[in-house]
Parts: sequence; C-alpha cells; structure tokens
Amino acid sequence: MSGKATVVAPANIAFIKYWGAKDLDQAVPVNTSVSMTLSECTSLSTVEFLDGGDGPDRIEIVGDGGSLTLPDAAFRERIERHLERVRRWTGRAGRFRVATRNSFPTGAGLASSASGFAALAIASTRALGLTLDVPELSTLARMSGSGSAARSVLGGYVEWSWDGGPGGHATSLASASHWDLRDVIAIVETGTKEVSSLEGHRRAPSSPHYEARLSALPARLDTVRRAIAARDLSMLGPVLEEEAIELHLIAMSSRPPIFYWKPGTLRVLEALRRGRETGLAAWATMDAGANVHVICTPSAEKEVVRILEGVAEVADVVLDGVGQGPREEREHLF
Ligand code: DP6
Repeated sequence: MSGKATVVAPANIAFIKYWGAKDLDQAVPVNTSVSMTLSECTSLSTVEFLDGGDGPDRIEIVGDGGSLTLPDAAFRERIERHLERVRRWTGRAGRFRVATRNSFPTGAGLASSASGFAALAIASTRALGLTLDVPELSTLARMSGSGSAARSVLGGYVEWSWDGGPGGHATSLASASHWDLRDVIAIVETGTKEVSSLEGHRRAPSSPHYEARLSALPARLDTVRRAIAARDLSMLGPVLEEEAIELHLIAMSSRPPIFYWKPGTLRVLEALRRGRETGLAAWATMDAGANVHVICTPSAEKEVVRILEGVAEVADVVLDGVGQGPREEREHLF
C-alpha cells in the first residue's frame, strides 16, 4: 500500500531551554524545557511512501518560486536516518519521497530543525496510514536528534518533561487561545550559525556554570508554569530573559567557548532594557544564535517593532506569535 500526506508544523521558542543531553543522537535531555509554539514560522512537508519500493529515498527542498534543490549532505543524512527510524518503528519496508518548504526565508537565521522534523514525523507516519498519538509523535520527532522538535507537535504552551525515563515527550500546558503572546523577532544575523546546537549540547557540561543552572531550573520552571497559568507577563518576562542569558553564559564558558551573540544582540537587549525603564512590558530570549525573540502582549507589539527598527544592526523584524500547532493539508507539494 502506498500513501501520501502533507503536514505543516510550526517552529517554537523556548522559555526554558533544552541545553545539554544524556544522549545526543536521540535527544534525551538533561532537563525539562518549556516553549511557545509559533504561528508564522512553519515547515510544510509532503511525504509519499512507496510500499516495497527499493533504492534510495528521494529528498528535496522547495525554495522560493517553487524551485527544487537537494539538501546539503549533513541535512540529507539526518533526514535519511530519520526515515530509516520511521521504517524500523513501523516495521514497513519501502521508499520515501519527501519535499519540504519553509515559510521563513532560508538564510534569515531563523531556520530551526524543530518545525522540519516535527512535520516529517507526522507526515511520514500519516503517509503510512498511521495515526500516532501525541507522546508517540513527540518521541519520534525528538529521535531525529533535534530535541526541540519534540515540542513542535503541539500548539500553544508546551512542556517537554524528562522524568528519568527514555527521553520524555511533549505535553500541553495551555492552548494558544489561553494567552495571546507575541514574538517579535529581531534579525541581527542572516547566515547560518558557526557552531550547531548539537555541538553546544555536547560542550555544555564543560562550563563551570552548568551545574549551577541545573540547580536553579526547578524554581525557574515552577515560575514559568505559574506565569503561563496566570497569564502574567511581568512574572514570566524576567525569568525567560534570565534563562536565555544563562544559556549563553554557559555557551560562552564552555570549553572551547561558543559565542552565538553578535553586537546587534547586545544592542537589542540594551534598547529593551531602556524601554522597560519607561514602562515597556517586553522581554527577550535567544536560542543558539544571535537573533533576539522579544516576547510581549499584542498591546506592546507596535512599540517593540518601533524600538527594534531603531537599532542600526537589526536587518529585519519578523512578527510571530503563539500558534495552534501542526495541521494536515490537502494540497501536496508534488
Ligand atoms: C537553544 O538540538 O533541538 O534552541 O536541532 O538545531 O533545532 P536544532 O536544536 P536542538 O536544540 C535546541 C536548543 C535551543 C533551546 C530549545 O529550543 O530548547
């Protein structure tokens, strides 16, 4: 039996970061993380399964204007390994054809594997005629090696808990309609980052600050959960910014050190700090890169955009916000 499915899955921005792994290959995290699923930054993936077909899987990236390109060798290998895992997981022999398109411009420094691997996990199992539940999809997405993909299988506010078991999976803390938060993204770097998250996870335990972060996390997680439940940005904001700075402190003090920040990152943080002195309610978080995600409510969004556009190093401002999570589409990419 052959089948085809197309799925859109969103990226997510972590409030409490996944940083450091017990098993990097299958993304078994050292700590629990919490994120907000986005609405505009998405990956769309069409997957076709040809039962019994042999030969290599066919993997293509759909670029602007519909142009088809092949992924680079490292990315192709990650996708192939993931498809092999899906075959093993489901016990089916056959060949996949995959095409993927991102909603955000490639090279905007936003490309996260989270949306891509979440879309691939859902579309590939749908192409096989299977409907996995959320824990299974989240686990399958995480096993791609992109841990943050575990959280992109759900919308709204999501926790990926690690309870000492085989790696954990995502659960919902609150739906998107619970709280309309925005993510105004300041693009200060457009190229691909020099050091991958994978390498960041690997080096994290070498930082003298790593253990201190782990001991601070339970209290920080508790505050983030309570702030989300109470829709209290003045409780959430300072903690999410502190958490992001600490992740980068660990990266910068890893051996050898990793500097993801660029001068524009500091300029944006400074502009926000000044804005807060005059009452602006907006706080920043950064993943393993230089771009700054500013979290605010809809009423502060315009002011945040104005502030970010006034920073010379900001090349672009992308508007996003909390989103509903993945969905299946009727229209396929091929
Ligand atoms: C800093 O290993 O999931 O974004 O595969 O590159 O998406 P990619 O990274 P992954 O690590 C994510 C690290 C992080 C924090 C987070 O999203 O939790």
